[in-house]
Amino acid sequence: MIETITELDALRARVREWKQQGLRVGFVPTMGNLHAGHYSLVMLARQYADRVVSSVFVNPTQFGPNEDFTRYPRTPEADMSGLEGAGCDVLWLPTVESMYPFGVELAARVHVPGVSSVLEGAHRPGHFDGVCTVVGRLFNQVQPDVAAFGKKDYQQLAVIRQLVTDLAFPIQILAGSIVREPDGLAMSSRNQYLSADERPRAAEIRKVLIAMREGLLAGQSRAQVEADAARRLTEVGYVVDYTVVRRHDLSEPADGEQAARVALIAAKLGRTRLIDNLEF
Ligand code: PAF
Repeated sequence: MIETITELDALRARVREWKQQGLRVGFVPTMGNLHAGHYSLVMLARQYADRVVSSVFVNPTQFGPNEDFTRYPRTPEADMSGLEGAGCDVLWLPTVESMYPFGVELAARVHVPGVSSVLEGAHRPGHFDGVCTVVGRLFNQVQPDVAAFGKKDYQQLAVIRQLVTDLAFPIQILAGSIVREPDGLAMSSRNQYLSADERPRAAEIRKVLIAMREGLLAGQSRAQVEADAARRLTEVGYVVDYTVVRRHDLSEPADGEQAARVALIAAKLGRTRLIDNLEF
């Protein structure tokens, strides 16, 4: 039976009790409206830990002024039963007041330079500061031994890894594979914003990522592959933020470089902003 905890003292007491028994604690932070991608992270954490805590907290500091904070889907009952089914032991539900006791404006901020400033960071200024600000707090609250993040948010994972190394959090970071719908669309809480007309076109992103990989492996230049991808998405109605090929650390590869790479896309379909990536 999953236990829901809403007070920090109670969370600390539960985690302390587990640690006194020599149990390893896993953690999966979320913003709720959970799907199979989140549940796969809980199952991943379970492989490395004896007990798993998952948090649901829609974090105001990582949303821009014109983003979807207020309409972000909230589905608490379904989240709780899904987490229980996935093997989560504790659902941690902080309030905005307990997360930011001095208020959002006066909250101590965590900024990870470099990797935070490109791609998503350039298109969503302040987004990763908000993510690091809340993840740092969540790590201090839960004090896990391992924490799992999805590769769907590829750059977020890179930023979190840098945060953990730089601030010496004693936490092992696990990377969960992207979970997809049968047509290839990466699972995301934001997919439900898509209209019936947009939904079939949302799968195009995955096809374009595969075409980017094939183009590069066939010897096309990076500039060509990136431009073709943007054009193909624009043709089917997307407004493209970026279609890029990067090294796995998100630095720019030299032309013709054969090292491991990742293709990343961010594009809007109507009001829905989708991101996805493909490592190769
Ligand atoms: O990936 C998310 O859902 C959020 O960015 C996270 C890590 C839970 C922080 O709010």
